[in-house]
Amino acid sequence: MELEHARTRIEELTEMIEQHNYNYYVLNAPTISDYEFDKLMAELIKLEKQFPQLASPYSPTQRVGGEITKEFQTVRHRTPMLSLSNTYTDTEIRDFDQRVRKTIGNEVEYVCELKFDGVAISLIYEDGKLIRGVTRGDGTQGDDVTANVKTIRSIPLRLKGDFPSQLEMRGEIYMTHAEFNRLNQEREEIGEIPFVNPRNAAAGSLKLQDSTEVAHRHLECFVYYVLSDSLKYDNHYDSLMAACNWGFRISPYISRCKNIDEIFDFIEEWNKGREHLPFDIDGVVIKVNSFRHQQILGTTAKSPRWAIAFKFQPESVSTRLLNISFQVGRTGAITPVAELEPVFLAGTTVKRATLHNADIIASLDIRVGDYVFVEKGGEIIPKITGVDFSKRPPSSQPFTFIEYCPECGTHLRKNPGEATWYCPNETGCPPQIKGRLEHFISRKAMNIESLGEGRIEILYENRLVRKISDFYKLTYNQLIGLKKVYPATDKTPARVVSFREKTVENILKGIEQSKSVPFPRVLYALGIRYVGETVARKLALHYHSIDRLMQASFEELILVDEIGEKIAESIVKTLHQPEMKEIIEELKKAGVQMSLSVEEKQTQGNILAGKTFVVSGDFGSAERRREIEQMVVNNGGKLGTSVSSKTSFIVAGSQMGPSKKQKAIELGIPLLNEQEFLDLLGKSHP
Ligand code: IVH
Repeated sequence: MELEHARTRIEELTEMIEQHNYNYYVLNAPTISDYEFDKLMAELIKLEKQFPQLASPYSPTQRVGGEITKEFQTVRHRTPMLSLSNTYTDTEIRDFDQRVRKTIGNEVEYVCELKFDGVAISLIYEDGKLIRGVTRGDGTQGDDVTANVKTIRSIPLRLKGDFPSQLEMRGEIYMTHAEFNRLNQEREEIGEIPFVNPRNAAAGSLKLQDSTEVAHRHLECFVYYVLSDSLKYDNHYDSLMAACNWGFRISPYISRCKNIDEIFDFIEEWNKGREHLPFDIDGVVIKVNSFRHQQILGTTAKSPRWAIAFKFQPESVSTRLLNISFQVGRTGAITPVAELEPVFLAGTTVKRATLHNADIIASLDIRVGDYVFVEKGGEIIPKITGVDFSKRPPSSQPFTFIEYCPECGTHLRKNPGEATWYCPNETGCPPQIKGRLEHFISRKAMNIESLGEGRIEILYENRLVRKISDFYKLTYNQLIGLKKVYPATDKTPARVVSFREKTVENILKGIEQSKSVPFPRVLYALGIRYVGETVARKLALHYHSIDRLMQASFEELILVDEIGEKIAESIVKTLHQPEMKEIIEELKKAGVQMSLSVEEKQTQGNILAGKTFVVSGDFGSAERRREIEQMVVNNGGKLGTSVSSKTSFIVAGSQMGPSKKQKAIELGIPLLNEQEFLDLLGKSHP
């Protein structure tokens, strides 16, 4: 294709993709399938690769990230980012209304909005192009997080319609509950401490150095304030509606109110309604609508006089702390857990709450026997916010954190500067051993489904597996007839799990099949601390084999994209342990993939990021099928085994099972044949 032709096509594709992005992320009303969308994207990526001189920094291909920011630049805000004055009482809202009416008169109109509990952002557009995204910082200057902001699909990179040429939009970047839960689950799997709430998760994500990682976190954004010298509107509400037409996402929960009663109705509606929102809000913002009125009212040094935030009281109850127990995770991290007298709070009965770490217990001076305040301040996990000292029994004793592992008795350790205590007995502490075994067989790792559902426990108790390579030594005779009786609990009746012929066959088959799991997933399955799926893939693609990775020094490792000191240290330490060396040797001997295949080495990058594929049916040979699966992984996609609403695409060979096909049709999941799949990657059939 010649240059001019390519330029036109790139422009066409960009416009189409932007419109579809807008339909999907802003209007929540997609008009094409994911498959069709991905095809447009693949074509654009291919053209930009072919004609790099035509690739624009505002291209939708920027959404997948790629840029690494070593240090965020500090940028001064053109207009300071003020905060809002807060209140928790009706009286203060009435006072606010009185003050406004005194200056403006009774014709005042208010706009009520939700107060999103995320991170404030300033977005600068020049001639309709996103030039910069800056955090609030101290209100006068913030951090330039443009590369990360560009990955957020509800933030337009180029505007459409009749927008002002100089424009600043202010809004809130947040994380939905669903994404927060997904992320925390993933963090727990790799031994990272989970985020306390979605706000912290959003703030932490926005400050990541690798924008590809930010793209994986699926942040979202609502804008709530338009700043421009050449606005055609004389009020806040109309300018927000116009911003929606320029491509921004505006919260639909917004209301114009004429009087204080309407304001209180809005507050009441959302004090209750917030429980059902997919994201956290911590109050309602009331703004004077007319810009002229806003100007007359002016601002104080800290906040505008034309707006106020009504903050919801977090729901809080007091209950007795019966005990503090301790959980030992896969990485040996000790989590203190509050065992509470059951209490009803915001729709659920709370019996337990995490206490995070020793420092938190000490700083709140929490003691067993105390009455403690439990809150669900819009957050999902209940937390203990303090002690009712008036009810403290005179005999109470300060709580002393355990010194020895509750599971294996080893003396606990703590890294300098960290708050978490660890049990260092990695090879002898049962929950750590079982945790590693469970991680190894988990879906995203070796995916040995037949070993799930408590079966690891049975193998462990019968001393058949201690380390991950032991799975490959299991024999039929060892497994047949194993059983365990689980006593009844208050939720489940007693049950017996026993290994019959079919179970054993399935287990051995699952273990055998895991030998073809590609190397990046094997590396993830090893359970090295801080090496999650993404890092494992990066390392595998960089070093190609476990042998080369084992030879890499700390200094070499930190030169690899995205590998920081913490990860590098953990890799070197773990891979040099004699136990790990032995495991790796045994895995190699068993035939587990400890290096990349030739096909895997020709990686394409991240084009399938965020998509889950099920590869099903016959592709001529088992080898070809594995190659296709490998291509999915190499290009940043995920593999699923069964068709569900989480499946993005099915790559269907001949003789795909009719029930799978039926399910795919019911769920509206696109079926690709081999060539269509290759098209998606911009490849031709070999
Ligand atoms: S308006 C000049 N509207 O609340 C007024 N702020 O202390 C600018 N926030 O960190 C703020 N939802 O990020 C406004 N609908 C909303 C908001 C909102 C959340 C945050 C904002 C800031 C804090 C104000």
